[in-house]
Amino acid sequence: MSIHEIKKKIKECRNCALYTSGAGVPGEGEPCELMIVGEAPGAEEQTSGRPFVGRAGKLLRRLLEDEGISRFYITNVVKHRPPNNRRPLDTEIAACREHLEAEISAVKPRVIIALGSTAINYFTGEKQVGGTRVLRAGDVNYVLTYHPAAALRNPALKQDISNAIRIAKSLLKDSDRQKQP
Ligand code: URA
Repeated sequence: MSIHEIKKKIKECRNCALYTSGAGVPGEGEPCELMIVGEAPGAEEQTSGRPFVGRAGKLLRRLLEDEGISRFYITNVVKHRPPNNRRPLDTEIAACREHLEAEISAVKPRVIIALGSTAINYFTGEKQVGGTRVLRAGDVNYVLTYHPAAALRNPALKQDISNAIRIAKSLLKDSDRQKQP
């Protein structure tokens, strides 16, 4: 499936009861080497149909820009806003899995930044963020770090997220070097 077909399917999804929040919010961007995965759309994302456009999203986008990163695919584990911004339920995450897996297959990232415990748990099975870390699985490097919403509450965490972005950047450069003959 092309990324455009996947995005259309996400907008129309009724896999779980969250569809009553409005249209599904697909990822943004074209296939590229860096993918960023958060938890679920918030109120502004649900209204605009775009991921990471609210306060936390603006902070994240500024940190990416500060590191000179402009090419990325950004999405969420769950594509509809849970009521009152509660954490997505395991059943909702399971119902949405086909979409994130389809996005990953189409985007083919070499580095995935997982933001916050829902995304970290999705990729690793671990419940805690536990600082910024890198894990390699197959051809993909996972950079695990805090969600930018946590950095709005505790500004010291901005540094961790910037570090994670810098690590992602250097992992992309390393694998570029390995690709050269
Ligand atoms: N938080 C997320 O995890 N995703 C968004 O798109 C916005 C806020």
